[in-house]
Amino acid sequence: MQIKPLPATSSAPPGAAPDWTVAQDWKGYTREEHATWDLLFDRQAAMLPGRVTPAFLKGLEVLRLSRRGIPDFAELSQRLHALTGWSVVAVPGLVPEAVFFEHLAQRRFVAGRFIRRADQLDYLQEPDVFHDVFGHVPLLADPVFADYMQAYGEGGLRSLRLGALDKLARLYWYTVEFGLIREGGALRLYGAGIVSSYGESVYALDDPSPHRIGFDLRRVMRTRYRIDDYQQNYFVIDSFEDLLHQTRDADFAPLYAQLESLADIESGTMVPGDAVITLGTQAHARARSGLH
Ligand code: PHE
Ligand code: CO
Repeated sequence: MQIKPLPATSSAPPGAAPDWTVAQDWKGYTREEHATWDLLFDRQAAMLPGRVTPAFLKGLEVLRLSRRGIPDFAELSQRLHALTGWSVVAVPGLVPEAVFFEHLAQRRFVAGRFIRRADQLDYLQEPDVFHDVFGHVPLLADPVFADYMQAYGEGGLRSLRLGALDKLARLYWYTVEFGLIREGGALRLYGAGIVSSYGESVYALDDPSPHRIGFDLRRVMRTRYRIDDYQQNYFVIDSFEDLLHQTRDADFAPLYAQLESLADIESGTMVPGDAVITLGTQAHARARSGLH
């Protein structure tokens, strides 16, 4: 799931509950839809060992996500709930931020129920069930990451009251969606937007183009991101514990106030003080924009 502005006043669509949830209707999936899941699953499961944080692989295993077909949310939630108190609920598509944050704060992860068409395996605009479940749910079985996501939901509600959602949304983007972690000296993937993408799973770790920069909370909250292509910079955390402590245990109100007077940092630019892990060539972004 991603954070994208929707009119705050919009109420749940017809057929959805007031909290925007709908039934997954697992029995309604076609054979082709289950086959699309299997194809995406097999492709990522073959590539990720050695590239993704072991906590993610452990999550796949303890949640038995390798069983064939699109997971049944009710059954998945039962397993997940027993481990960390989280559950997975279905929504018709993107939901307003306040609704999304409220669910996270209650340890409910909202997931799209639809799956991409077989001719859209590599690119889609709205998060589908593969991105949401394969990408996000395994780490919700990790107790520390599970606490981070709940705290993020509470922080999200607070950011709305403080008028600072744009800053906090960048933290989600550069951790939950596109985060890297350094473990035993090696970089590994953990962001859901990366691990659910065939192309970006390789690019984020191996391509010489993007900058890879040590995580710094203020830096991240000042940095713009792109939604139309691979990222031009990734931020690397040292551990989920460290991420949790730097975010949950800090009061963001004074930080938001300071950031108000600081300029945004464009994607793909380095700034003084950056803990450079790899200085990217930015060749990918340059080629895409037609400049050489
Ligand atoms: N501590 C943050 C605040 O004071 C909330 C937060 C927690 C944000 C965890 C992100 C992640 O608003
Ligand atoms: Co997502």
